[in-house]
Order: sequence, then C-alpha cells, then structure tokens
Amino acid sequence: MSPIVQRIVLAVLAISGVFSTDIDLQTCIDNFNVHRDKIIRTQDSQNMGAKYLNEIDLGSREECLRLCCETDNCDVFVFEEKNSGSCYLFHCGPPEDFKCKFTHHVNYSSAVLSINRHLPDLESQIKLTKHEQDLTKLRRLEPETDVLKTAVFDEKTRSLFPQLR
Ligand SMILES: *[C@@H]1O[C@H](CO)[C@@H](O)[C@H](O)[C@H]1NC(C)=O
Repeated sequence: MSPIVQRIVLAVLAISGVFSTDIDLQTCIDNFNVHRDKIIRTQDSQNMGAKYLNEIDLGSREECLRLCCETDNCDVFVFEEKNSGSCYLFHCGPPEDFKCKFTHHVNYSSAVLSINRHLPDLESQIKLTKHEQDLTKLRRLEPETDVLKTAVFDEKTRSLFPQLR
C-alpha cells in the first residue's frame, strides 16, 4: 500500500469509529463504586444483554478490581468475599445503557464502573459537536421573538402563581 492510500484508510477507519480510546488504568481504578453484600442477577443481566467475560480466583477485591480494569470491556466485577474468592468479570455497558441487575447476598461484593470505559470516538465527537451547534443556533435565531416569548412566559407564570402579582 502506498503511504497516501495508507493514510486515507487510516482516516476512514478513524472516522468510522473503529478506533476508540480506552480510559487509562488509574481513572478506571478510581471510578468503581463497590456495593457490599450484592451479587449480580446473572440470568436477568444476560437477558438484558450483559456479557460474562471471565472468572478467576483472586486473593482480594482490590486485585479483582484491577483485573477488571486491565480487561477489555470489563465494567462490572463480582467478588466472592473470602481469601482466594472467585472474581467474575462482566460487561454491563456504559451508565447510560446499563444492562445488569443485582440482588442481596452477604458473601459477595459487586462493583460498577461509574464512567464510560471508552472515550468518545471521532464519529461520536463529530455528532456531539453537531448537536451542540444545532442547540446554540436556536439562541441566535431572531432575538426579538425571544423577548416576546419571555413576556408570554411571564404572563403564564403570573397566572399560575397569582401571589406574584
Ligand atoms: C456465606 O459464607 C459462609 C461461610 O462460608 C456460609 O456459612 C454462609 O452460609 C454463606 N451465606 C450464604 C447466604 O450463602
């Protein structure tokens, strides 16, 4: 492949969102919320689209947390609270599209990553920029009608709250 073609291919891949950057390890470690006495409802979660990734015996919850952060797509882990307990790793999805359910169990802890693992890729960034532009465009549209709307709103507010009169 000639260098120019290579660059075009890379640009297309980048725009189509094939590359997205992961948050760094420390950010991941710092953003887990641990819930003591909770176990995942495996069937319900899988039915909702959660993915089971891996299980391994580890000495502590901290090691389990770290392993989750080092594992691609892991955003939830469940640790059996004992020495050399089972550490289960799951992909439950980002907070805005979370697919896991939990229930009470004294011998387990469950922990949820409270932020999205993937930084928005280029494609989402472009979309976000467009949404922002669309929104701010509203602000610049015909400022005089804004004054009118404010007046109408005030009249409405006053009728709703007569004590303001
Ligand atoms: C929790 O673990 C202890 C010790 O292994 C066991 O005796 C107990 O039955 C467990 N509790 C539940 C709810 O499974």
